[in-house]
This record gives sequence, C-alpha cells and structure tokens, in this order.
Amino acid sequence: MAKIYLVASGKGGVGKTTVCANLGLAYAKDGYKVILVDGDIGLNNLDVTLGVEDKVCYDIVDVLEGKAKLNQALITFDDCKNLKLLPSAKVNVSERLKTPMFRRIVDELSTQADYIFIDAPAGIEYGFHRCAQSAQQAIIVTTPHISAIKDADRAIATLSTYSMRGIGIVVNRLRQDLVDKGEILDAESIADLLRCPLYGVIPESDKIGIYSLIEGKTRDKAKQAYYELKENLINGVMINKRVKSKGILGRLFG
Ligand SMILES: Nc1ncnc2c1ncn2[C@@H]1O[C@H](COP(=O)(O)OP(=O)(O)O)[C@@H](O)[C@H]1O
Ligand SMILES: [Mg+2]
Repeated sequence: MAKIYLVASGKGGVGKTTVCANLGLAYAKDGYKVILVDGDIGLNNLDVTLGVEDKVCYDIVDVLEGKAKLNQALITFDDCKNLKLLPSAKVNVSERLKTPMFRRIVDELSTQADYIFIDAPAGIEYGFHRCAQSAQQAIIVTTPHISAIKDADRAIATLSTYSMRGIGIVVNRLRQDLVDKGEILDAESIADLLRCPLYGVIPESDKIGIYSLIEGKTRDKAKQAYYELKENLINGVMINKRVKSKGILGRLFG
C-alpha cells in the first residue's frame, strides 16, 4: 500500500503543484512507483505543469462516471516510467465529486504505488477536505510572505482535526539574499512560527521547470533541494530539530 501525502497550502500560487510534480519526479527517479493525483478539480494544473496536457484522454470524473477505467485515465511518462498522473477534470464539477468517491479512487491507486501525492486546491473549503480525507501525511507549502504563512497556519489548524501521521512545512521560493538582509524570515523561523517540522526548503529559481529533473543535467539548487526534501521525508529528518511550542504566530497576528 502506498504512503499518501497531501500537498496543500491555504494560499494559492505558492507552489503546491510545482512541489507535487518535482517531488513526485524525485521519488520516481529513485525507483519508487509514484502516482500524482490532481485534486484541484476544475483547474487541471498538474498535467500542464508536467507538460502532458495533450496526453489527457480521461480524467478523474470520467472514472467516477464509468466512462473510463482508472488505468485508462492514468498518464504514464515516457521519460520516467515510474511516474503516473491521474488528471483532474477540466470543467468545474467539484460538487459532483464527493469525498468518499475520491477516497475510493485514491485507495484503489494505493495498491499500485509506493507513494501518492495529492495536489490540493487552494483554500480550506470542500476540495481541500476532500483531498485531506484521503491522505495520511501533509506537506504544507508556503512562501516567506506573511500572507502565505498566515494561510498556511489556517490550513495546519484545519488539518489538526484530522488524524494525520505528520504535518510538515516546505518553504518555497526562499531568497537567501533577502534573508541575509533581514528582509524576510528564514525557513526555520517560518516553521517555528507555524509550530511544525521543516521538511524542506526550495530556493527561488528560474529553472524550476520539471525538465531539469527529468533530464538530470543541471546542478540547479532547486533540483538539489527537491532531492533533499525527498531524502528528509524518507528518512524522517527534520531541518529544524527543535520545534518551538510557543504560539508566536498567534502573538504576531493576534
Ligand atoms: N521555487 C520556485 N522558484 C520560482 N518560481 C516558482 C517556484 N515554485 C513555484 N514557482 C512558480 O510559481 C507559480 C505558481 O506555482 P504553482 O505550483 O502553480 O502554485 P500553486 O499550485 O500553489 O497554485 C508558477 O508559475 C511556478 O512556476
Ligand atoms: Mg496548483
């Protein structure tokens, strides 16, 4: 049975889909069988990010409506056979896709993968809960921006009602030059504010496209960061070993 991760954030545009795609690739390149599930129903970003939009024949809603078998809807990657994608619907039929149906699909997929990553929609509405219900562990993606950190805090609080095995942070788009100038918080401080373990830090990068990972050519820092994130998750290593228990975020934001 697969280990099932939720990739969520609260705020949109912080890099959930990018993290999902790159992390999935990093695991798949390591030999693990990985299935990415696009849980952002109506926006189908994962297939676009992974450059396989043209390969989509059937999506998750076609499977539910009996128009396609689950394996017909799964997209396999020519360059990375261990990686598969279950695309979301292109039209917004979110209300028709009930949580138990979604969960049944994820459970079925979990028999054919080592890892499943569910790319959750932004916000903490129904779509977020539908994804969270199917996952065992959560990766909360945030950028160093205060608005993203606040929304991550709300997503974490919402997830605390679930019996997740773990909830951790990935700080995305970190600019070390701005940290050094004291203009933004460093990743450890962000994780401390959110009172969660820090699973990984992905730097701001103009080479964030997935092809650097597929081709394995560049020595880009973002690529290294994804492999480190994967290793941390596999080995259960947290970057901030000491997670502060005080509610600093609460004090900061009232
Ligand atoms: N580390 C990064 N450095 C630079 N750009 C990034 C990084 N991570 C994500 N992006 C860009 O940010 C935008 C939003 O990312 P996306 O993964 O779609 O966010 P979300 O799924 O949270 O809405 C995309 O244009 C993506 O290429
Ligand atoms: Mg997205």
